[in-house]
Amino acid sequence: MSLLQTFATLVLAWAVWQVFRAFIAKSALDNILDQNRLLGGEVTPLFVLRRLPLTVCLGNLDQLFDRHGWKFQDDLGERYGPVVKLQSLLGRKALFVFDPLALQNIIIKDQYIYEPPEWATTSFALVFGPGVLATYGERHRRQRKMLNPVFSIKHMRYMTPIFYRVAYNLQEGIKNHINDAPKDIDLLHWVHRTALELVGQGGLGYSFDSLKEDVPYTAYARAMKDLIASLFHLTPYRLWTPYFKKLGPKWFRRWLLDRVPIQGIQRLKEMTDVVYENTRRVFFEKKAALEAGDAAVKEQVANGKDIMSILLRENMKASDEDKLSEEELLGQMSLLVFAATDTTTSALAQTFQLLAQHRDVQEKVRAEIKEAKLKARGDIPHDELMALPYLDSICRETLRMYPPVTFMTRETRKDVLMPLSQPIRGVNGQLMSEIPVPKATTILVGVRASNMNASIWGEDVKEWKPERWLDKLPESVTDAHLPGVYSNLMTFNGGGRSCVGFKFSQLEMKVVMAVLLESFDFSMPDNGKDVVWNLAGVRYPTVGRESKFAEFPMKVTPIDT
Ligand code: HEM
Ligand SMILES: *[C@@H]1O[C@H](CO)[C@@H](O)[C@H](O)[C@H]1NC(C)=O
Repeated sequence: MSLLQTFATLVLAWAVWQVFRAFIAKSALDNILDQNRLLGGEVTPLFVLRRLPLTVCLGNLDQLFDRHGWKFQDDLGERYGPVVKLQSLLGRKALFVFDPLALQNIIIKDQYIYEPPEWATTSFALVFGPGVLATYGERHRRQRKMLNPVFSIKHMRYMTPIFYRVAYNLQEGIKNHINDAPKDIDLLHWVHRTALELVGQGGLGYSFDSLKEDVPYTAYARAMKDLIASLFHLTPYRLWTPYFKKLGPKWFRRWLLDRVPIQGIQRLKEMTDVVYENTRRVFFEKKAALEAGDAAVKEQVANGKDIMSILLRENMKASDEDKLSEEELLGQMSLLVFAATDTTTSALAQTFQLLAQHRDVQEKVRAEIKEAKLKARGDIPHDELMALPYLDSICRETLRMYPPVTFMTRETRKDVLMPLSQPIRGVNGQLMSEIPVPKATTILVGVRASNMNASIWGEDVKEWKPERWLDKLPESVTDAHLPGVYSNLMTFNGGGRSCVGFKFSQLEMKVVMAVLLESFDFSMPDNGKDVVWNLAGVRYPTVGRESKFAEFPMKVTPIDT
């Protein structure tokens, strides 16, 4: 054998070892019970054989990132206990976690050990630029320091009239469209346009859409809408983005990307371009207005009091070490729109579906809104609207049972001990009250699993019951000390990476509901079109299981006022 051959053999052996070592090497997680994927479905020898290559390569990832994988998610929450071991790429280990004490450590105490995985931040950075979802550690902390104050309650109060104005445009748009008679509409389309317009006006100080007519999605809206599902499906490819980023300069990577023969990736590239062009256009208009001085700013939508204008102004004043670069500001804008639009759209569509299915609840909340409006002699002001008890219970209960973000992904940056509120039994039969988690373990935070934990919420956990929020919550809820920023729920996350826009989204949901419920009755269409909710980074509805087009048909009937 020549020296070259020996060398090549050694390199190959090393590569094979790298690829397969996770299957053989001992791990501190060996003692954690496995969710044996092969026992999950119908286990015929043929099934086992057919799945073997997939199992070896993807582990449970294809089940986890399956848009119809609700059963798998439910099983994770109900069948195996608060920590379940799963397989990730090439035998690497992942833990699905929703034990309350473990969550506290992941989300708050050890949040700088449990960071988003590098593949997630890198792929967000490639698609949107280096905004909050694309950074971690010190850089992320610095970005949040600038962003947090802009989302204060005080600012939400200021923005309430803008929210109402947009919601009335929506009301008028639907009215014009249905022409005073009951009609089936794609509610998702209207709500998505509204959510985009609200983050446009309130977030960017920019109007995308007058909402007064039924027009198709613009290229920008369509891109923002399709990105979530696209990113979810492409997860197995996104796992490789940290390596892709190291391949060379931007133009070279672009050249390579243009040659990737995968349709989903080409479509993602197109969407990325559309988002980038639009964000740049808005950004430079704003910057020009700010530089031209106060008069020009006043001309802008929201009088220059939108989130980005404030951020730009604060940024000019900030010390050099806190200052965000232009690239970061652009990334911040795109990510803000992305994070704001699908999430609230999904939550609103789900709420209207539940209101259609529970007519008594719809009538009761409509009465509450009408009374408050009468009392206010006009639009219900911010604080009163937020305090309407029944409306609030409906939002909380919907966000508990149907959190738009079903689970979140993290990765340990070093070895860490994960304590548990109650010990679990290991493979060796012994109880353990903490888990030694090695560096580079994928952690899946079970948002919905935590919201649906019967030991916390009670035996009626699977019933949609707004009333549970009107009474005192069970002690088990407060005792669990969940780290969520909102209502003991994990829906908006907690800690340094909690949803920065959660008050914004609350206001949005309530203003839209108050304005629409006042003038329309909502029911499911007569032809009973089968709406299916799909799992993704943010869950979305389609008509039937096969369709990939997010929509939500609803029958809307005008109410005489
Ligand atoms: C019902 C609506 C919403 C839900 C359920 C929701 C949920 C979440 C969750 C779970 C996260 C954490 C994701 C993770 O770390 O993996 C998050 C982050 C974020 N959300 Fe929301 N969100 C909603 C609406 C909004 C709105 C309206 C905005 C903006 C106006 C917004 C802006 C953001 C941003 C910027 C982040 C990234 C924060 C960071 O990483 O520091 N969200 N959201
Ligand atoms: C549910 O919550 C309880 C009480 O906080 C916790 O001990 C348990 O680990 C959680 N998970 C399951 C599956 O019960």
